[in-house]
Amino acid sequence: MTTPYYLYDTELLKKTLDEIKKGAATIENSFVHYAVKACTNPKVLEVIRDAGLGIDCVSGGEIEVVVNAGFDPSRIMFAGVGKADWEIQTALDNNIECFVVESIPELEVINEFAAKKGKIADVCLRINPNVGAHTHANIVTGLSENKFGINMADMMEVIRLCQELPQINFKGLHFHIGSQILEMDDFEALCRRVNELQDKLDAAGIHAEIIDVGGGLGIDYEHPEKHPIPDFENYFSIFRNKLKLRKGQELHFELGRSVVGQCGRLITKVLYVKNSGPKQFVIVDAGFTDLIRPALYGAHHRIVNITNTDDDMETYDVVGPICESSDVFDKDVRLSKTKRGDLLAILSAGAYGEIMASQYNCRRLPKGYTVDEID
Ligand code: LLP
Repeated sequence: MTTPYYLYDTELLKKTLDEIKKGAATIENSFVHYAVKACTNPKVLEVIRDAGLGIDCVSGGEIEVVVNAGFDPSRIMFAGVGKADWEIQTALDNNIECFVVESIPELEVINEFAAKKGKIADVCLRINPNVGAHTHANIVTGLSENKFGINMADMMEVIRLCQELPQINFKGLHFHIGSQILEMDDFEALCRRVNELQDKLDAAGIHAEIIDVGGGLGIDYEHPEKHPIPDFENYFSIFRNKLKLRKGQELHFELGRSVVGQCGRLITKVLYVKNSGPKQFVIVDAGFTDLIRPALYGAHHRIVNITNTDDDMETYDVVGPICESSDVFDKDVRLSKTKRGDLLAILSAGAYGEIMASQYNCRRLPKGYTVDEID
């Protein structure tokens, strides 16, 4: 197997999906969509499709990928602040479940294309709830200073516009406050905001068929072996207990990282061990082109030597070959004594790993395999 490559544990993925289904089943009329931006590896998609999840897309390319992978287009939610004309047309052609609209001009363009095609577009409005999330600043989305969604103050006006536009059918409200959220209070705050906004809808005699609360549930990057499956029971119980759903209302979730994050790891080979002053560098054949999260968000992924698993630990900086100083996976890592040719596993890399790979430095894209393909 040529390194670096992603390795996916489909058994863990299946167990994770079982937990998701168990948790969601405690809420009547709830639907879980997989946020496919997290990972589009075909083997991973197959397992998720067979588990019966819907899909959350943010581009026309994602719609094409999931339709080709055999997902039911009528269970696709399509969000994104900047939907291009061809993407809107692709969504209409595939009769997706619902557009998640983020601005008035977008709504008007969807209305126009739907008219040309003689279709009615179902639409949820993405409301910016101005609810913060305790996570990295780059992955907070629900504050009024973020580019996402429609300002709460404009909600009623935009719903009225939906009702006026002939090709638009208002279905409900959508929210997404951010990603890698581990503080359940953040989701509680979202529930409180949704309840407030629903009171406003009631007062105006408007019924939302769908409430979509987005994704964002985090995973344990520090102790993946202790918490291979996120606490879905607790997560779903927040929404079950705190959200006041109206009669017949559907509750939608869009989970990405928590579905696939712990199921994937990046396997990389040690090229050189270099002593340099006080430092020992382990130079591996993967770089930020293969896994950009540490360089982009300062994210921490556990690293283990899977060739030498002895207790003779030493301290290393694990770095890649890219010509940039930020190409560092981790500093002062305790690893079993490491030598050229050893394989290292960078853990919890199933989400936003392979899919964010690039070809900078004209590097090859990493491949992805499942555990059973390797054995
Ligand atoms: N729904 C919407 C509208 C989203 O924008 C996102 C993620 C999700 C659902 C899924 O969120 P999740 O359950 O995965 O937290 N590349 C970053 C994460 C970016 C998330 C973007 N939106 C990272 O590696 O941490």
